[in-house]
Amino acid sequence: MAPTSQDDLIERGVCLLGCGKMGTALLKGWLSSGIPSRSISVTEPHPSPWLKSQLDSLNVGQPKKSPAVCVIAVKPQIFLKAVEAVTAFCGTKTLILSIAAGVRLDTISEAFDHQSPVVRAMPNTPAAIGFGISALTGNEATTPYHLDMAERLMSAVGETVRIERESQMNAVTALSGSGPAYIFYMIEAMTQAAIEQGLPAKLALKLAKSTVAGAARLAIESEEDPTQLREDVTSPAGTTESALKILMNKQQGLGPLMSQTLSAATKRSEELGQVND
Ligand SMILES: NC(=O)c1ccc[n+]([C@@H]2O[C@H](COP(=O)([O-])OP(=O)(O)OC[C@H]3O[C@@H](n4cnc5c(N)ncnc54)[C@H](OP(=O)(O)O)[C@@H]3O)[C@@H](O)[C@H]2O)c1
Repeated sequence: MAPTSQDDLIERGVCLLGCGKMGTALLKGWLSSGIPSRSISVTEPHPSPWLKSQLDSLNVGQPKKSPAVCVIAVKPQIFLKAVEAVTAFCGTKTLILSIAAGVRLDTISEAFDHQSPVVRAMPNTPAAIGFGISALTGNEATTPYHLDMAERLMSAVGETVRIERESQMNAVTALSGSGPAYIFYMIEAMTQAAIEQGLPAKLALKLAKSTVAGAARLAIESEEDPTQLREDVTSPAGTTESALKILMNKQQGLGPLMSQTLSAATKRSEELGQVND
C-alpha cells in the first residue's frame, strides 16, 4: 500500500522554522493531533518557556535531511534571510509550507531553487485555540498529495479551505487573516455603546462577547443563511429594526464601511507582497 501523507509526516518528519505565536499554535496542534515529537524539528532563535519545556523531546537546531515538510512561520520581513538556514536540508521531495503573509509562491520557490513544491497558507489568530481557518494554494510543482499533507498540518489548528488562484490571497488576508481584529473592535464598540446606555462596563463586555460568540455559532450551525437569521430577529417596528436602520444605512452604515475596510486591507496586502519580491 502507498504511504499516506500522515505516514510520510511521521517517517520523514516536519521541520518548523520560527516558533512564535503562530508556530507555537501549529506545533501544539500537531502534537495533540498525534504527530510524535521525535518527527518534529524546530529552528527558533529565542525559544519561549513552553518551547524550552519541550526541548527534550523535540529535535531543536538542525532539521533532518529532506524532511517531508518544512513549515515557515517567520515574519515576512526576514523570510529570505531565515530560509537560508533550511534550504540546504530541503530537497525537491520536501514540501515547503509557508504561512508568511504576502510572500508569494514564486518568491518562495526562487529561494528554494525553483524545484520544490510550495504551498502558501493564510491562517488567523483563533488558531491559538484550535478555531482558526486557513486558506491554501499551491504552486505548479504541488500535487493533490502535497495539498493533502498541507491541509493535514493546517487542520491541526482549525478549518481549511483551498483557493483557486494565488491572487485571491490578498482578499483572503483582508477577510479572514485580519478579520479577527474587526470582530474584536466590534466587541469594543458594542461594549462602549452599552456603557453609554447605562450598563456597568464588566456586564457590557460580557454581554457583547457572548452575543458575538453565540451569533457566530448560530450562523455556523444553522441551516438558514445569515440574512434569514437576521430577518428572524427583526420584528416589524421593533427594537432590532430601529437599530438596523442605522447599521444598514446604504451611505453610512456597516456595508460601505466594510467595503472600504476590506479594500484598504487588500491593497495593503498587495503592497506588502511587492516589498517581498
Ligand atoms: N499571527 C497571525 O495572526 C498570523 C496570521 C496569518 C499569518 N501569519 C504569519 O505567520 C508568520 C509568523 O507570525 P507570528 O505572529 O507567529 O510572528 P512571531 O510571533 O513574531 O513569530 C516569528 C518567530 O520567528 C522567530 N525567528 C526570527 N528569526 C528567525 C530565524 N532566522 N529563524 C527561525 N526563527 C526566527 C522569531 O523569534 P524572535 O521573536 O526572537 O525574533 C519568532 O519567534 C508571519 O509571517 C505572519 O505573516 C500570522
